[in-house]
Amino acid sequence: MGLKWGILGLGKIAHHFCKDILLVEGSELYAVGSRSLEKANYFAQQYGANQSYGSYQDLVNDSDIDIIYIATPHDSHLEYAMMAMEAGKHVLCEKPIAVNYDQVSQLIQTAQEKKVFLMEALWTRFNPVIEKVISEIKNGAIGIPTYLNSTFSFYNDIDPASRLFDPNLAGGSILDVGLYPVFLCYTLFGMPQSIAATGTLSEQGVDLQMTALLDYGGGSAQLMSGLQANCDMTSKIYGTEGQLIIDSRWHEAQSYQIKKSDKNVTYKHPTIGRGYTHEIMECMKCIENKQIQSSKWSHQDSLNLISILDEIRRQVGVVYPFE
Ligand SMILES: NC(=O)c1ccc[n+]([C@@H]2O[C@H](COP(=O)([O-])OP(=O)(O)OC[C@H]3O[C@@H](n4cnc5c(N)ncnc54)[C@H](OP(=O)(O)O)[C@@H]3O)[C@@H](O)[C@H]2O)c1
Repeated sequence: MGLKWGILGLGKIAHHFCKDILLVEGSELYAVGSRSLEKANYFAQQYGANQSYGSYQDLVNDSDIDIIYIATPHDSHLEYAMMAMEAGKHVLCEKPIAVNYDQVSQLIQTAQEKKVFLMEALWTRFNPVIEKVISEIKNGAIGIPTYLNSTFSFYNDIDPASRLFDPNLAGGSILDVGLYPVFLCYTLFGMPQSIAATGTLSEQGVDLQMTALLDYGGGSAQLMSGLQANCDMTSKIYGTEGQLIIDSRWHEAQSYQIKKSDKNVTYKHPTIGRGYTHEIMECMKCIENKQIQSSKWSHQDSLNLISILDEIRRQVGVVYPFE
């Protein structure tokens, strides 16, 4: 039999993720866990999971499960990823894997001690277009890349009850969607020499919008995230010999373009399913090879990403009540 998945937290993303598990040969949607047994039973029925649990602890204690996918709000990733690893389970944890550097370090230390696989669910890293973009930039397709512009913003009515706006659940645009432009910039350019960030806060103290300038000495990036503006959701990389545009919605891209002089070529690389399939396959491969981390999105990558996000959050002035 294949890798048996247990899903912890049955909200919006858990539905999308489970539909994609069903597309991956060698992966089995085995069990689901919710704070409500009724919800877990209904969810299990919808997707054909064998087991359903009314508590997260009962879910991670199921000895038949190989890997737990954590799909709860940001503030709880540390607690539930720890709970799963303490029970000896491999973990794929939704982004951000934890809310600050100290929390991410704790998770990595536990994965090392328990010798279990741990990965942040940065699905965009495994998107076929992004894989191609990484190699195009590395191979000089647009010459030397000198500027990146990446945005991730969409309009939401301010709802203090939503996890997006609740400081107790580590809400705000930076950790929810700003993480994607920062991920792209870090993946293509590495760690910046300096960061200058600004933003707007809600009455509850989470950021409604963030703009950051990352300096690379000889190159720079402008990144934006928000919960109050609809943007075009493209990412653009400019180089000495042309431009590379990751088409909308770039974090789940199906195509990219390279523009040079008057020539414009579009390359299509569609995802399998919605695109979570690719990170699911990466987990399978790593676990089969007995790795505790992926070389494509490593523990150090998660640490580097959160250290940039910590600095942006510090400059914008977002402090969560539990920190
Ligand atoms: N990769 C992606 O494309 C993507 C997209 C959207 C979100 N995400 C990430 O996925 C995670 C969940 O986001 P979501 O949009 O699915 O959230 P959501 O719809 O609010 O669902 C979160 C689930 O977490 C559980 N939960 C546990 N403690 C909770 C609490 N104190 N308050 C509310 N819910 C709690 C609930 O499940 P039970 O009621 O079943 O216990 C709830 O349904 C976040 O980390 C987010 O950043 C990723």
